[in-house]
Amino acid sequence: MSYPALSGRTAVVTGAASGMGAATARLLAANGTAVALLARREGRLKELAEEITAAGGRAVAVACDVTDQESVDVAAARITAGLGRVDLVVNAAGVMLPNPVDDGRADEWTRMIDTNLTGVLRVIRAFSGDLRAAAAEGGTADLVNVSSIASHVVFPDYAVYAATKAALTHLSAALRSEYGPRDVRVTNIEPGLTDTELGTHIDNPALGLDGQLGAMFRSIQPLTSEDIADLIAYTVSRPRHVNLRQLIALPTHQA
Ligand SMILES: NC(=O)c1ccc[n+]([C@@H]2O[C@H](COP(=O)([O-])OP(=O)(O)OC[C@H]3O[C@@H](n4cnc5c(N)ncnc54)[C@H](OP(=O)(O)O)[C@@H]3O)[C@@H](O)[C@H]2O)c1
Repeated sequence: MSYPALSGRTAVVTGAASGMGAATARLLAANGTAVALLARREGRLKELAEEITAAGGRAVAVACDVTDQESVDVAAARITAGLGRVDLVVNAAGVMLPNPVDDGRADEWTRMIDTNLTGVLRVIRAFSGDLRAAAAEGGTADLVNVSSIASHVVFPDYAVYAATKAALTHLSAALRSEYGPRDVRVTNIEPGLTDTELGTHIDNPALGLDGQLGAMFRSIQPLTSEDIADLIAYTVSRPRHVNLRQLIALPTHQA
């Protein structure tokens, strides 16, 4: 799908090394948005930036760990220097590390909370001034947070991941009260099962791709990253007074 309204915008996309973030960056760039690609794997980001540039788009690869405040500060400074003011932020970076709470995996709890919630807050804080300024000048400004269906559907052993996503969904709703009156739109997207790298970090064989999650992929045709990218591009290309604030996108066969 083509979205002419995206031409001339400037976006930051976190999680752009793979999955939904990469697909969203690719689609935004194909529609004329300059994109800053953020994630930790710089090689992946550079490859994507080269691909976008070769196709006639504009992209900069910015290695960034959203769990590290200094890394986010440095990235924000590089983006301002390289692309100027940002008017679209997509928070797609995330990790999903299920295990029973009784296993006491504080390492995983910390990583999920710091990436999926505090990391999003760091990125919002880094660019909210840009978003407000763009809106104040009459431009369109968007904050898009990728939450999850897990924010309100209970999956056994996903309690901490789900809690981070429930917090993110609520954060998105609450932020509308701060940003909406300043013409900055806030959108929260809750995808269901989507075919990405997300499940590859699960270290519990019973829950991972050789276990429960793999069985889900075999029984349900998942969404693709491109499906989510298309929803994001559609959402942020609406007229500036229209805020699609909450989207739930499920594979047709996912209950
Ligand atoms: N796939 C699904 O079924 C599904 C469903 C609902 C919601 N979601 C959510 O969708 C979002 C995108 O995930 P995905 O499915 O596209 O999985 P993915 O392919 O694993 O993408 C996650 C991205 O986040 C980046 N990332 C992870 N930790 C980071 C950190 N500390 N700093 C910066 N970047 C970091 C990863 O890149 P690096 O490793 O290079 O940093 C990667 O590019 C996540 O928030 C996820 O929770 C996914």
